[in-house]
Amino acid sequence: MSPPSDNPDTITIHRPDDWHLHVRDGAMLKTVLPYTARVFARAIIMPNLPDPVTTPAKAGAYRRRILDALPDEGVASRFLPLMTCYLTDETGPAMLEEGFADGVWAAAKLYPAHATTGSADGVTDPLKLTAVYEKMQEIGMPLLIHGEVTDPDVDIFDREAVFIERYLNRIVRDFPSLKVVLEHVTTREGVAFVEDHSGPVAATITAHHLIINRNALFEGGIRPHRYCLPVAKREEHRLELRRAATSGSPKFFLGTDSAPHAIGDKEADCGCAGIFSAPTAMELYARVFDEEGALEHLDTFAGQAGPAFYGLEPNHEHITLARGETVTPGNIDIGGEAAVQPFGAGRTLNWEIRD
Ligand code: NCD
Ligand code: ZN
Repeated sequence: MSPPSDNPDTITIHRPDDWHLHVRDGAMLKTVLPYTARVFARAIIMPNLPDPVTTPAKAGAYRRRILDALPDEGVASRFLPLMTCYLTDETGPAMLEEGFADGVWAAAKLYPAHATTGSADGVTDPLKLTAVYEKMQEIGMPLLIHGEVTDPDVDIFDREAVFIERYLNRIVRDFPSLKVVLEHVTTREGVAFVEDHSGPVAATITAHHLIINRNALFEGGIRPHRYCLPVAKREEHRLELRRAATSGSPKFFLGTDSAPHAIGDKEADCGCAGIFSAPTAMELYARVFDEEGALEHLDTFAGQAGPAFYGLEPNHEHITLARGETVTPGNIDIGGEAAVQPFGAGRTLNWEIRD
């Protein structure tokens, strides 16, 4: 798609935040974090490590490892990781309350058990966490939801819509003031759920779900680096996501769900879900808003709606995006023989970031 010709050539927005990010640990953390910290001021750090981040002590230690992995110089050194609590069947409201009051937790993440990478310790019945929801509603702590059922009888392309029917509608009915984020929304049903609910319900939208539909997973053969969960849907859903993201509604904000895996773990008999978009995420979003003729709404989506939902100020700094060439890196070494492949590796994008 070519952008309308009267679109601006540059746009200045608040320095953005990434409201859904996986940075992993160890060598992978050191490799991937600088790509995010180069552009984004803050990020909601997903807690699905092999040893999930379930306690304030684990979150504090992980936060320190993240800060230690940052480059010493430049904007990256000002990056702020916002930690989330991995909810399990055993999570207690008192621990959430204490960690939230102490500023350790920014939010809590609900993974239905076995829904996605690193969710084996997740929640077996999302309707049973009533004491947790009650407390989170009372203290204003956001609940971030991976909204897919795990029932193998439900078609994988319907899992988000069925999750909304079976669980989300009831949760928001029973806890009308609970702040809920439907993470990485992928369907028209998800967009409608967010738009129709008058309470504090929002959604993050990834760059890749704005760009690919499910055909892209099978373009000329199977494409493991385009596979993530929730899986990309039909074109009609992608168009609905683009409409919602670029609408200027503060209920939709930026969350890349950048989720790196070593190439060998993706190009495998049972390849992992997760797309690594951090190296060019902001340039990709700019391209989408440009194509939709909606660059004037990029600041709401990337710079303002997320902080407002979380009760934070937008960042004081700004960045400028301009028409120009950005080359997406190819495979990036993570040490040893291993490497990670960015979304759209090697492709040239038509927006660049000027600080
Ligand atoms: C994520 C990961 O790899 O941690 N994968 C993904 O496909 N998005 C987990 C998640 O957010 O579902
Ligand atoms: Zn994720």
